[in-house]
Amino acid sequence: MRAVVCEAFGGPEVLALREVPEPPPPGAGEVQVRIRARGAQYVDVLMLAGKYQFRPEPPFIPGSEAVGDVVAIGPDVTRFKIGDRVMSRHRLGAFAELGNASAENCDSIPAGMSLEEAAVFRGAYSTAYHALLQRGRLKEGDRVLIHGAAGGIGIPAIQIAKLFDAEVIAIASTNYLLIKGIEAIGVRIGGLNEAHPEIAAANTKALVDLAAQGKLKPRIWRRFPLSEVAEAVQALIDRKVIGKVVLE
Ligand SMILES: NC(=O)c1ccc[n+]([C@@H]2O[C@H](COP(=O)([O-])OP(=O)(O)OC[C@H]3O[C@@H](n4cnc5c(N)ncnc54)[C@H](OP(=O)(O)O)[C@@H]3O)[C@@H](O)[C@H]2O)c1
Repeated sequence: MRAVVCEAFGGPEVLALREVPEPPPPGAGEVQVRIRARGAQYVDVLMLAGKYQFRPEPPFIPGSEAVGDVVAIGPDVTRFKIGDRVMSRHRLGAFAELGNASAENCDSIPAGMSLEEAAVFRGAYSTAYHALLQRGRLKEGDRVLIHGAAGGIGIPAIQIAKLFDAEVIAIASTNYLLIKGIEAIGVRIGGLNEAHPEIAAANTKALVDLAAQGKLKPRIWRRFPLSEVAEAVQALIDRKVIGKVVLE
């Protein structure tokens, strides 16, 4: 199969489209997905540079969010069948034509959502939702300040905060915070997925329901073919992206 391989730590220049072996058959609890589209995110930029908290050694296939069709199911998987179209979260490997993912990390696509939107929905919206509602304890009528508001997580954060009747102050292209009395709270979506998978699953269900009602909609900045992954990554580094980038 074709896959984008990170061949050394660095910038977009370390990425190469290669012919690589297909993944093994899915293990217990896993599905294999023929990936149709995937998101490229700032997290991928950090991972390529070896600056992310999860630091795989090159060579590796980057990419953690995708949409595609289930082509094989592992033992014990009852949630999906071959042919189902799913949004999938991968630890690595989404910049490829085939990828294995835990069935727990896959969801059906909300009604009315396009393939490209589904490819970038899960990660950004679940991060923004957890950050605002659970870590940030957002209540109706609160005033919320959103940094990086034009970015992949910023736009979902604006949509979710507005949906919960918050007053939103969105900031782009500046990091200067002069308002007194601000409380900073750490958030790590990976930590929620590991420690409280039941909350993560409930969050995803809530988000899928809201999206199916047309209340949440990913903003796609641009679509790139997989062969132009370096351009997509460079656009993230150059802060050109407003919303999300999709690799097809
Ligand atoms: N805690 C978690 O669980 C979690 C999960 C996922 C991602 N993240 C992190 O969240 C951050 C945002 O991710 P993302 O996917 O939204 O990235 P993104 O799509 O690249 O968006 C980042 C936004 O921040 C702005 N920005 C970039 N560099 C800046 C700087 N030096 N000073 C001020 N603003 C800057 C950018 O545009 P402007 O030029 O318009 O300001 C852009 O709108 C990343 O650091 C990512 O690693 C955290």
